[in-house]
Amino acid sequence: GTIADQKVLRGTGGEIHQTSGDGVERLTTAQGVPVADDQNSLKAGTRGPTLMEDQVFREKIFHFDHERIPERVVHARGFGAHGVFETYEPLTDITSADLFQRKGEKTEVFVRFSTVAGNKGSADVARDVRGFAVKFYTKEGNWDIVGNNIPVFFIQDAIKFPDLIHAAKQEPDRGFPQAQTAHDNFWDFISLTPESMNMALWIMSDRTIPRSFRFMEGFGVHTFRLVNAEGKSTFVKFHWKPKQGMQSVMWNEALKLNGADPDFHRRDLWNAIQMGDYPEWELGMQLFDEDFAEKFDFDVLDATKIIPEEEVPVRIVGKMTLNRVVDNFFAETEQVAFHTGNLVPGIDFTNDPLLQGRNFSYLDTQLSRLGSTNFTHLPVNAPRCPFHHFQQDGHMAFHNPTTRANYEPNSWGPETGGPREDPKGGFTSHPEEIEAPKGRYRSETFADHYSQARQFYLSQTDTEKSHIADAFTFELSKVETPAIRARMVAHLLNVDEALAEKVGTGLRLKTMPEPAESAMPVKDGLKL
Ligand code: HEM
Repeated sequence: GTIADQKVLRGTGGEIHQTSGDGVERLTTAQGVPVADDQNSLKAGTRGPTLMEDQVFREKIFHFDHERIPERVVHARGFGAHGVFETYEPLTDITSADLFQRKGEKTEVFVRFSTVAGNKGSADVARDVRGFAVKFYTKEGNWDIVGNNIPVFFIQDAIKFPDLIHAAKQEPDRGFPQAQTAHDNFWDFISLTPESMNMALWIMSDRTIPRSFRFMEGFGVHTFRLVNAEGKSTFVKFHWKPKQGMQSVMWNEALKLNGADPDFHRRDLWNAIQMGDYPEWELGMQLFDEDFAEKFDFDVLDATKIIPEEEVPVRIVGKMTLNRVVDNFFAETEQVAFHTGNLVPGIDFTNDPLLQGRNFSYLDTQLSRLGSTNFTHLPVNAPRCPFHHFQQDGHMAFHNPTTRANYEPNSWGPETGGPREDPKGGFTSHPEEIEAPKGRYRSETFADHYSQARQFYLSQTDTEKSHIADAFTFELSKVETPAIRARMVAHLLNVDEALAEKVGTGLRLKTMPEPAESAMPVKDGLKL
């Protein structure tokens, strides 16, 4: 499963021919033809023009010309590593997922950490959300938790995602800023999108300037389902808790680091793993059933809300250790393809409208980013358990069916008939009952945009609170349009008056705005 396996492509036989006299491998073309001179192109005469027939030169330049692939439309800048996940105890009562059936079960993983808004070449310590994507190569297929280091999100419905990302990334006319939240388009969108207020508080906290990837939490964000062998469903929120603890840098440190070493985070992870100081995270689950979910004031399908840990404690179920750097950044970190739709039997979706949109988006974008439907054939994306299907052809196919049958049902015997479906052990969707009129709805249960923002702010220490106020003041001071600044302060008045005052004063607003209109009264606490 590692890139080393690609060496199989070096073929069989001929090894002896492809070494020079002293045993060193001979340089060849991609066709395997030995190269005599890799320094000089073929010319007509010593000072003559290069000849079109120079197939060695043309192959080399052709390949070079096409080295770049499109960067990810979001989370373009990232860094990956391999590791292992160990299950602490069987979870047979709540899920039939194979990786949770046996104590001590070890599952290989690949993790990619990332920033969201910056381009591929941007600086590591930008104030931004961090992606925390984990691919588990389980014995029943690949399962991805495509999460972030913040447990909530900006928007409730995936149809807004292109707008959120357009607003967050560089402005289309000027091409900047490349990697920060401090600009008019971003705060214009946020201030017009009250559902983003909880996330706005989280991103102005120290969580968005982590000291390194090793000191961050991770979250699956959405409510997912676990389903046991009897078909019983339990809601779940996934958490990654760093054994290293959590640490952030100060804002002035972040600014200096970005100048002094824009690769600060990727260098840190590489060095830690190379030194044998393997970072570890424990996987935690908040588990609750449908009746319990009904009791919350908010909707568990709303990705702008957390489930308070005081109400539903996090149960620790296993540990992930990152213990191996990649052999090749491009082959693994760049080409890895995570997808919320990569689920294994025993784990299922919910109707969270953000999650439902993601389930379409990842496969779709990966076709244009990786250029072929066959990206699952790449070692980093391929399952490490046996897999058999009748998918065939397309660009770069090298796992085509090898039997006569490439369809089913077929009447060919076990020798040539290929794989068969497994009604009992295969993936089945939880049969949630749905009967409702079609419509572009927004549930009233999604309407409280301020209570959790306020609770998050009040949960912070005084130092952390002042960092949040400073961050808002700094970021909004880069916004040139006064109306946008005022609109943000109007929202903050619904979160915490003292915070709003501090930011308003910092921005030298002449008059404080009226609090933004709120559909619901703001609450201090969440009661069951
Ligand atoms: C990429 C997380 C919402 C579309 C990513 C990555 C992460 C992530 C971690 C980077 C994966 C990697 O390292 O390769 C999240 C989280 C979300 C969220 C936690 C909200 C809870 C969305 C939504 C959409 C979306 C709503 C679209 C409707 C994408 C796309 C990519 C991406 C297109 C690029 C994937 C690729 O090129 O391979 N997301 N995302 N995301 N996300 Fe999301």
